[in-house]
Amino acid sequence: MNDQELHGYSQNAQPQLWNLLLSFINSMSLKCAVELGIPDIIHSHAQTPINITDLAASIPIPPNKTSQFRRLMRLLVHSNVFSVHKREDGDEGFLLTPMSRILVTSNDNNGGNLSPFVSMMVDPSLVSPWHFLGQWLKGNDTQGTPFRMCHGEEMWDWANKYPDFNKKFNMAMVCDSQYLMKIIVKKCATAFEGKRSLIDVGGGTGGAARSIAEAFPDIQEVSVLDLPHVVAGLPNDSRVKFVGGDMFHTIPPADVVLLKAIFHGWNDEECIKILKNCKKAIPSKEEGGKVMILDMVVNSAPGDHMITEDQYFMDLMMITYARGLERDENEWKKLFKDAGFTSYKITHGLGTSSLIELYP
Ligand SMILES: C[S@@+](CC[C@H](N)C(=O)[O-])C[C@H]1O[C@@H](n2cnc3c(N)ncnc32)[C@H](O)[C@@H]1O
Repeated sequence: MNDQELHGYSQNAQPQLWNLLLSFINSMSLKCAVELGIPDIIHSHAQTPINITDLAASIPIPPNKTSQFRRLMRLLVHSNVFSVHKREDGDEGFLLTPMSRILVTSNDNNGGNLSPFVSMMVDPSLVSPWHFLGQWLKGNDTQGTPFRMCHGEEMWDWANKYPDFNKKFNMAMVCDSQYLMKIIVKKCATAFEGKRSLIDVGGGTGGAARSIAEAFPDIQEVSVLDLPHVVAGLPNDSRVKFVGGDMFHTIPPADVVLLKAIFHGWNDEECIKILKNCKKAIPSKEEGGKVMILDMVVNSAPGDHMITEDQYFMDLMMITYARGLERDENEWKKLFKDAGFTSYKITHGLGTSSLIELYP
């Protein structure tokens, strides 16, 4: 070994490389835990830590695989998905951590259920395009995406063609919306005060719209605009109406236009088009008009390694699946100015996202 190699050795270079390289095993183990319904089983065992034998039997895992199953649980405890505790009978048992509490599928867990989001993010159709990122970066095509190189079509066309993917994607979005909206309606309630109507543009199957309609009964008209194949067959009810359409064409009028996880999927030119349509849809600031954007503001949590890394992960997803990007505050500011808006206010600290209130 020469001096340089020795230096790398003493700096833990190889373990660091392995740790980074093999971290996909954390994602796949998490997927496996969700598939096996482990968070639900631990949750239904109430407050008593469940031991490995009972946990395996509840799934069920055949007795000849208990040893392998124990090793899966060891990693999941190590990555803080579950915790391990000594029981009164001296055995060790598992409990949920805050992270796995939000993977429980029943709605009595008070934390929302993000397991459909886990299943979608590691679905082979979303994992495979990553193998094309290098090839895409080297090519001259600025219009297509690694997703298209992999599947032959862009993601929204693909979703239109494959109902199973469409359904899985929409379920993931609904659970993410419901989770985030729980935080928003508590922390940002004043942002909705005095509003009579709200339209959730690109609102999918209505996860966010329903949370808002429930939390703010004074908002009389709550509607969702999304692509026709997304809202097809969704029943209108007394609180939420669905409109099939295209945000690049026109947005129906409302006091508030809400857009959650929309702008990050589009380039600047496309975002300005959407913003201009938002501006046409709302009344003046004095009459209560505003656009509410729920998206990431990159580097909104300086010093928080995890949130910053989540934002960079999502930003690369926007290259791989769409033609978008996660924007920092200056990039957002430029978009707003170019679309003719006069002022904005940002509330950070909503998980990895921020709320931007934008005024005409
Ligand atoms: C990333 S998802 C976000 C869904 C939802 N806002 C949420 O956060 O759960 C983007 C949404 O934009 C919708 N969308 C894409 N192109 C659209 C268009 N041209 N007009 C309206 N909606 C569109 C998609 O169908 C999808 O529901």
